[in-house]
Amino acid sequence: MSKYLADYGDNTNFVDGEGCFLIDKNGKKYIDFLGGWCVSTVGWKHPKMMEVLQSTGNRGFYIPPSYSWPEWESFAKLLADITPGKLQKVFRTTSGSEAVEMAIKIARAATGRKKIVSIDEEYHGHTYGALSVGSALTSAIAPGVPEMLKLPLPNVGNAEDVIAQFEKIASAGDLAAFLGEPVFTNSGTFVPPADFYPRIAEICKQNGTLFVMDEVATGFGRTGKLFASEHWNLEPDIMCLAKGFSGGYATIGATIVTEEVANRVFEKGGYFPYYSTFGWMPDDMIITRKNVELVCELKLWENAESVGKYLLTLLKPLEDLAKVKEVRGIGMLFAIELKDKSLTGKISSEVLKNGLVVDTASPEILFFSPPLIMDKETATKGARILSEVIKKHCS
Ligand SMILES: Cc1ncc(COP(=O)(O)O)c(C=O)c1O
Repeated sequence: MSKYLADYGDNTNFVDGEGCFLIDKNGKKYIDFLGGWCVSTVGWKHPKMMEVLQSTGNRGFYIPPSYSWPEWESFAKLLADITPGKLQKVFRTTSGSEAVEMAIKIARAATGRKKIVSIDEEYHGHTYGALSVGSALTSAIAPGVPEMLKLPLPNVGNAEDVIAQFEKIASAGDLAAFLGEPVFTNSGTFVPPADFYPRIAEICKQNGTLFVMDEVATGFGRTGKLFASEHWNLEPDIMCLAKGFSGGYATIGATIVTEEVANRVFEKGGYFPYYSTFGWMPDDMIITRKNVELVCELKLWENAESVGKYLLTLLKPLEDLAKVKEVRGIGMLFAIELKDKSLTGKISSEVLKNGLVVDTASPEILFFSPPLIMDKETATKGARILSEVIKKHCS
């Protein structure tokens, strides 16, 4: 526990990073299977990113977001070009939580309705709106934002029932939005059945409910597509972005919406609160643009797909162990679910000692999301460290 920082932390003291590795204060190198929890795209200290970092930081001036700057406009156009469907208008934010906050406000303002449905057991951020969707609200900080309804996670053969519950809620005609992740990351990498989201999106359409995809964790190549929504040809009305957006090189997020949704927000005139003083700081934006361009130029979703599949093949045999329930993954997004809640902490600290970084999504789920550039050799070495420790504890 840190003496001066309010949150938890360990005492590894990472001081540097390079490619798919982190380096501690003693110069020890660790394979970074975590990649900053769905953050790392091109890896750490990518030469092209270092060039941009060296060319920025010396601007010496700041432009408030209420003034125009051509770079903002042209980057917003790039986002509109690469995101699925008709997403067109960008609201600038500093983080994923702020992107989700913005989505909630936009959904309410555009529809004139209050209720938002999300999936329980999910995480969408730490600010009041964002923690009121999903399950981050605790009794210590309740009450959250009102009119937030929850559906169960569709991960135990219950998707039909979840869809039926959603249809019942939406058909009342007063639901502003459905807000969810296309692949459920924070609850432990659950991929919904193939027809789950197409049917949720269709119910939204039929009932005047906006369909919001939180791609903060899954966006920019993580799941083997540029955006996870593409797995099922989804065309969200609103999409939230952060994490892999900058690849960890800048503090930035975005909420992108269709022209129609934007028009509905602004058509009534009046005040809509979206001003973010440091949302898309010029340097942050230039750096983020380079990361997005590299993800697209290198088609990193393809490496995520092929090395991800390879890594999953290496780890799948762990399912034969008595205490392993499931090994699952999509692209460079993984979870290993154990039958014993007491083991994930032990396993993650032991693999750390052996030179590999992974995290836990819950007491029984190990979680990792390697940089999208990871090669097979590094993946093999990491899988070996992880397998050895899991075999020791889970046989
Ligand atoms: C799916 C999802 N949405 C939103 C957030 C919040 O993003 P941030 O931590 O940048 O505020 C997270 C963070 O883990 C996330 O995983």
